[in-house]
Amino acid sequence: MYRQIKALLTILLFCLLLPVFSFAGAHGGGHTGPDPKGPAILLVTFGTSVPSAKASFDNIDKLTKEAFPKVEVRWAYTSSIIRNKLAKQGTMIDSPEVALAKLMAEGYSKVAVQSLHMIPGAEFHDTYVNAKMFGDMVGGFEKIIVSYPLLASNENMDRVVDLIIANIIPKTRTKDEAVVLMGHGTHHTSDAIYSAMMYKFQKKDTNIYVGTIEGNPTFDEVKEMLVTKGTKKAYLIPLMSVAGDHSINDMSGPEDDSWLNMLKAIGIESIAIQKGVAEYDALANVWIDNLKNAMKHLQ
Ligand code: CO
Repeated sequence: MYRQIKALLTILLFCLLLPVFSFAGAHGGGHTGPDPKGPAILLVTFGTSVPSAKASFDNIDKLTKEAFPKVEVRWAYTSSIIRNKLAKQGTMIDSPEVALAKLMAEGYSKVAVQSLHMIPGAEFHDTYVNAKMFGDMVGGFEKIIVSYPLLASNENMDRVVDLIIANIIPKTRTKDEAVVLMGHGTHHTSDAIYSAMMYKFQKKDTNIYVGTIEGNPTFDEVKEMLVTKGTKKAYLIPLMSVAGDHSINDMSGPEDDSWLNMLKAIGIESIAIQKGVAEYDALANVWIDNLKNAMKHLQ
């Protein structure tokens, strides 16, 4: 009895430690022998309609194809607003579901879905739930794995904190100058990751802050901390994969309520850095490493 419980616990523990979600699908036609088409990669992001912000996706695309030169790489945007906006301009981008249906129809039997989101929030979980159905359905994928976004483990959070300090924060910044990273924020529980990132940055450097537009920590909280510190100058940096609409408008736009102008109103001059996290190879490679891990589990 004890041995059986021990064996069960071992299996349970093993399952919990699996670093990626994976699910074997229902086998419609029965797949035997090597997969004629090999695995495919689906890169899933929120999307952007800002042309300059696409530099982030171009970089991820390049690094993915370098890491997997023989693998089919496709893209999908989770935001229907962005997809519809782009469609009106003549650029058709698939939703994750349409992209997966196409891969299925073309005969791919294994797919690694890489979430290019920052946190495992609502969009990641929606993608996960729907991708799972593509493995469960009759005639569906033999195997489909949904791989984690950037900040989905303590280890990755620590790694990203160090990489941002080493690669993104300008070398010319002095220690008394603040760095304010602007995250998106969400109603989803994973919003707590931004507070965790604030804590981790503060442990390394008490002049580095994390705020969000739609979640916590709020901009007001960060502003209060800056005032308490007697900050005179700040660097504003998007904690987002792309430097898109939020970065251009909410962070440093001409409106009175942009972070740049709200800080200016209390005497803090800011320099905005319009570059998405995924534009930096060192950071983009954290997503690529998550994908490499998923691809290992796909074999
Ligand atoms: Co938004």
